Amino acid sequence: MKNIHDQLLSWYKHHGRHELPWRNRRDIYAIYLSEVMLQQTQVSRVWEEYYPKFLERFPTLEKLANAPLDEVLALWSGLGYYSRARNLHESAKLSNGFLSDCPTKLMKLPGIGRYTASAVCSFGYHQTIPVVDTNIARVLRRFFALNCGDDRLVWQKAEEFLNLSQTRSHNLALMDLGSMVCLPKSPQCSLCPLQDGCKGKENPAQFTYSKKKEYEQLELFYGVWIQDGKIALTSATGTMYRGMYELPSVDPVYEDFLGSYKHSYTKYRLNVALYAIDDCVEEVVWVDLDSFDTLPISSLTKKAKCHIVHDKRMSV
Ligand code: ADE
Repeated sequence: MKNIHDQLLSWYKHHGRHELPWRNRRDIYAIYLSEVMLQQTQVSRVWEEYYPKFLERFPTLEKLANAPLDEVLALWSGLGYYSRARNLHESAKLSNGFLSDCPTKLMKLPGIGRYTASAVCSFGYHQTIPVVDTNIARVLRRFFALNCGDDRLVWQKAEEFLNLSQTRSHNLALMDLGSMVCLPKSPQCSLCPLQDGCKGKENPAQFTYSKKKEYEQLELFYGVWIQDGKIALTSATGTMYRGMYELPSVDPVYEDFLGSYKHSYTKYRLNVALYAIDDCVEEVVWVDLDSFDTLPISSLTKKAKCHIVHDKRMSV
């Protein structure tokens, strides 16, 4: 095993993504934040846009805990999966400024599963603990030729394969190998430091499990009510955008149709139709169209604003 561990670490030394900012921080909160942001979001978007902005505004767990949820969601606007931001804020409030170094305790916090708890303990607390995300799982499934879909077996193999002396680098190396070499569709086996011991290299596709993405089509009807350059928004209550501001929902009235657009959000493929209204059953807040960037407003609603300001029929 020592040989293969050394080959993996040597590959990581030369090819790993050492420049990722969260890998060069020691504060646990910043590491935890990166893991939450990186769930379902590309590294580049987190790195370039959201991570620095968020850390600048909320540099500590206490500052995050003391901030209003509105402000947290506003900084998360556009990143999607807003339950991550709500859970992050809730966890900060429950943590009293300190994140536990015990995975079981961390997993009691909202939004923290086995992966995030292990990542915090390995990358933040430098513990000898395995980490399995989708990239690492693919590497291990192929390396050990695991045919069954059970995640517990992958975690068990991660534990058996662990490098007990350089665990953090070992875990990061597996992650990078999965995202750069052991790719889902076209693995670059000839570049892989694990190729000598890999039991799956003859047929990597056989050990590739990908959950089939199932999309759901939804039709959404929103009302556009504008007065003196301000637009009526409501507080979203559904699970998708809870805590965010959105346009009031309406029943479609053909004569009041303004326009429509498509939007993708998580597993949803949305057709959004806008209708002019001058009244509304829901409670509304009047929001300046110029202040959209400072409020918790999703990309879906920001897109509606673009349609509205470019529509000659609406005098904004
Ligand atoms: N480095 C540490 N955690 C990471 C993650 N989840 N994605 C990419 N790089 C990481």
